[in-house]
Amino acid sequence: MPLFQRFTLTQYLIEERRRFPGANGDFNALILDVALACKAIARAVAFGELGGVLGNHNGEAGGSVNVQGETQKKLDVISNQYFTRMNEWGGHLAGMASEEMDDAYQIPAQQPRGNYLLVFDPLDGSSNIDVNVSVGSIFSILRAPQAVIDSGRDVIEADFLQPGSKQVAAGYALYGPTTMFILTVGNGVSGFTLDPNLGEFMLTHSHMQVPADTHEFAINASNSRFWERPVKRYVDECLAGKTGPRGKDFNMRWIASMVAEAHRILMRGGVFLYPRDTKDPCKPGRLRLLYEANPIGFIMEQAGGRASTGHQPMLGVQPTSLHQRIGLVFGSKNEVERIERYHAEPASTGQDNPLFAERSLFRT
Ligand code: AHG
Ligand code: MN
Ligand code: MN
Repeated sequence: MPLFQRFTLTQYLIEERRRFPGANGDFNALILDVALACKAIARAVAFGELGGVLGNHNGEAGGSVNVQGETQKKLDVISNQYFTRMNEWGGHLAGMASEEMDDAYQIPAQQPRGNYLLVFDPLDGSSNIDVNVSVGSIFSILRAPQAVIDSGRDVIEADFLQPGSKQVAAGYALYGPTTMFILTVGNGVSGFTLDPNLGEFMLTHSHMQVPADTHEFAINASNSRFWERPVKRYVDECLAGKTGPRGKDFNMRWIASMVAEAHRILMRGGVFLYPRDTKDPCKPGRLRLLYEANPIGFIMEQAGGRASTGHQPMLGVQPTSLHQRIGLVFGSKNEVERIERYHAEPASTGQDNPLFAERSLFRT
């Protein structure tokens, strides 16, 4: 297709803004700053070993550890810097928070402050970076509390503790065979592909929709002995395939980059589970609510899919801390609803199910 039959991200945002005559353009400028950070990260990722960006931050011997207790990759730190640098000067933000920063990030005193909060995972799936498997960046935009906007005061953790239903926008960039930028501003989901010649994101996927049904599921099966019963039941039934209660065969996927799994699911359906489990009582789930579960949840819901803790819709959860972890299930609506039903059923139903006793491939 000739190039200029496509919209750029900038043109798309301008068109969207025309629907809101009162909007002052701040919000669009913020999205473009985020997209610029993603383009910079895409370049750093693309150079890999040639750019000296692989491996652990602060050397291989231990390296540095973030607030999650996870070893930081060089690219985790570089990506975090791109996000903060590209977004701290524009005057659109009251503050930021990131997986890679213990506390809320303050807009430097010499810069103007704005009305929004930006929360991000600068590099999701970074354990894959050294083996050249897709990684991405995930972001969520919230409105700053009115008291912050009025006073211009520094942001504190409590300002970010808003349920996912309050998100103004969310998106991710995926650094795969092509770099893509996926965005929702609460009016459906649009996908853009980076034109490497122009350095522009071009609208390539309009009105993205997650199919309601699927025969693909994604879960880290090495945790199966720690799963709660509803999750075991669901996976057992998928594995039982045609001869089991589902009456159809399923396929399994695990990339270990949640953002890449989310993209696959957005493109062709599927269900992803990183459920709450009993592996570590201090960690109620693996993934983080504010910058992983909520933005991906918002995108899924805007694309006709669903996101849940298993017990309640993800976007209804009231956060209690910046780096809170949570059980996450998202994807094709009918599968997520089925998993929620299994969680809602009394425990005895599962125990009585002969599938657990005799046919469970993951029984403990
Ligand atoms: P991050 O790289 O931001 O710490 O997130 C990694 C996450 C997520 O992307 C992925 O689904 C999950 O960790 C993989 O976990 P396992 O190592 O248990 O497979
Ligand atoms: Mn992550
Ligand atoms: Mn990360």
